[in-house]
Amino acid sequence: MKTLTKLSAAAFVALMSTGQVALADGHSCTFEKDPFDFDQAEIDALYACVVDDLAAGYAAEGHEIGSVYRDWVPTATGPYNPGPHGERFLNTFVNEIGAEQYNQYAFGDELVMPVGSVLAKESYKLRDDGTPRLGPLFIMTKVEAGGDAEEFGNWVYSGVQPNGKNMGVKQSFCHNCHQAFADQDSMGYPDPSVRLSN
Ligand code: HEC
Repeated sequence: MKTLTKLSAAAFVALMSTGQVALADGHSCTFEKDPFDFDQAEIDALYACVVDDLAAGYAAEGHEIGSVYRDWVPTATGPYNPGPHGERFLNTFVNEIGAEQYNQYAFGDELVMPVGSVLAKESYKLRDDGTPRLGPLFIMTKVEAGGDAEEFGNWVYSGVQPNGKNMGVKQSFCHNCHQAFADQDSMGYPDPSVRLSN
């Protein structure tokens, strides 16, 4: 009995020091599994852990996109296993102007998103201790042809940090990777397994 009490105390201390948090429904927000191997239930459980903090964080400083993107149109059923943005989980929303076009996930050299389309992608990952760490909101805004953004496919890349502050973004850094999707107007699209049926 005594041993048991000691063990529980030790477990409790360990729990506190890893910063483990539990949701209201009781499930833990510490994940001891390689995120690349997460199944759908684990992906959903992790998203439930961060869903409120993401939106609150991006909106914390009144950022014009960070404050409103959650009212936009989802582009997927939800996040998928970690992807190309720094091994983070990703979940993208699109504004009304771009929604109809984006959610067809179309391709072809003639595909061009309407001017004024904005894509906003939430991101988060797991720390080595298995707890979630919020990442930036990655943003792409389609602008008129003929300006400074022409060399970047008329996209302006930007971002919001999880504390709501603006993220400094080097256009060429983002576009050098996105231009690989040249026949999709430089958009990568969500993983096929989480695309919305249309
Ligand atoms: C190493 C390659 C790479 C780099 C660098 C990169 N991206 Fe992406 N990005 C992708 C891929 C692949 C996707 C599609 C995957 C997904 O959404 O699940 C994507 C998706 C996005 C989307 C959602 C729209 C779409 O379908 O393309 C936004 C917004 C975005 N990235 C913004 C940025 C910004 C801003 C930067 C620079 C800070 C950046 N990206 C840098 C590869 C990259």
